Amino acid sequence: MSPFFHLSAILLAFALVCAASPAPSSGVAEAARKCKEIRVHKEWRDISVKHRLAYIDAGQFLPWHRHFVNVYTKELRDKCHYKGPIPFWDWARDGDNEGVPIAKSPIFDPVTGFGGDGVLGTYTLPSPNISTVTFPQSYRGCVLDGPFSADKYTVHLGPGTLTTKHCLVRGINETLKHAMTTDVLEEQLRIKTFAELRATIDNPRAFGMHITTHSAIGGEMKNVWSSPGEPLFFLSHMNLDRMCASYIDGPSTVNGTDNVTLDFVMDFPRISSNVTIRDVMDLTKEPNCYTFEY
Ligand SMILES: *[C@@H]1O[C@H](CO)[C@@H](O)[C@H](O)[C@H]1NC(C)=O
Ligand SMILES: *[C@@H]1O[C@H](CO)[C@@H](O)[C@H](O)[C@H]1NC(C)=O
Ligand SMILES: *[C@@H]1O[C@H](CO)[C@@H](O)[C@H](O)[C@H]1NC(C)=O
Ligand SMILES: *[C@@H]1O[C@H](CO)[C@@H](O)[C@H](O)[C@H]1NC(C)=O
Ligand SMILES: *[C@@H]1O[C@H](CO)[C@@H](O)[C@H](O)[C@H]1NC(C)=O
Repeated sequence: MSPFFHLSAILLAFALVCAASPAPSSGVAEAARKCKEIRVHKEWRDISVKHRLAYIDAGQFLPWHRHFVNVYTKELRDKCHYKGPIPFWDWARDGDNEGVPIAKSPIFDPVTGFGGDGVLGTYTLPSPNISTVTFPQSYRGCVLDGPFSADKYTVHLGPGTLTTKHCLVRGINETLKHAMTTDVLEEQLRIKTFAELRATIDNPRAFGMHITTHSAIGGEMKNVWSSPGEPLFFLSHMNLDRMCASYIDGPSTVNGTDNVTLDFVMDFPRISSNVTIRDVMDLTKEPNCYTFEY
């Protein structure tokens, strides 16, 4: 399976959460979709230190080719016995935190977080000229502290489309901090149609929230083919899911989805059985069963 497939699966998963207004379910019998329990997903720093450490510990042993975030979190609970809340990273808390660099966010803590920035000079691209590495300058260096440091953790995909074993590479870009604020996000979430929102979040000139977080972390996150090898990928996408969930609560998206129908079948070979958009629209029904603590 190509890494591109994984990313498109995730983007599609993201798209589908945004794509349609809440609607009655028909794909799966309503009774079968009743949740036994609704789990609450929490911001990283609102989770106890004990659970933060347990999450990181469970994450280290995961097969990283299981990229679909929902499936991933189920794996964390079922196979890795993670019992705490599923975390998301609300990066606007860091964007809004004046005078404190993104790299100083608790998310990058070497003990209770995911380790810090890449260290300049510790990673060299295997060739200076890889056509699929569009931002070589974002490959600053290896993460050398925390649970995903070079001596403990290996990424198998990238750079670009290459397949090489290498350290987790980051290159935090502080100049993007101004685009990670509540004001900028709220402006994007005021967009009326799904098509426009989908285009905006990936537009670097508009500081789209999706592309901007990938660029702000840099390295692996900046590479379409290996970004899910960055453990922060999942927390970041969970946050997009959260913002989208509130987006669809609003009244303005009702007719914004002309190209997408609720009966659209999404195919996730080897990751999950097929689901329709309708099946995953309602967060409080199977197969989702979660809500966000804001
Ligand atoms: C890099 O790639 C370009 C275009 O693909 C080519 O013209 C150039 O000679 C290459 N440079 C090196 C050092 O390989
Ligand atoms: C950081 O982001 C700015 C704004 O997008 C960009 O111009 C610059 O090249 C980036 N720097 C690195 C090292 O990626
Ligand atoms: C959405 O479209 C339907 C017809 O497809 C229409 O009846 C309804 O009023 C529209 N809603 C809004 C909010 O524009
Ligand atoms: C699909 O959406 C695009 C962009 O919103 C629009 O231009 C196009 O006409 C739509 N196509 C159909 C078949 O509705
Ligand atoms: C899942 O969907 C794909 C694409 O729509 C289809 O080709 C495939 O046969 C479906 N698989 C199952 C098990 O229904």
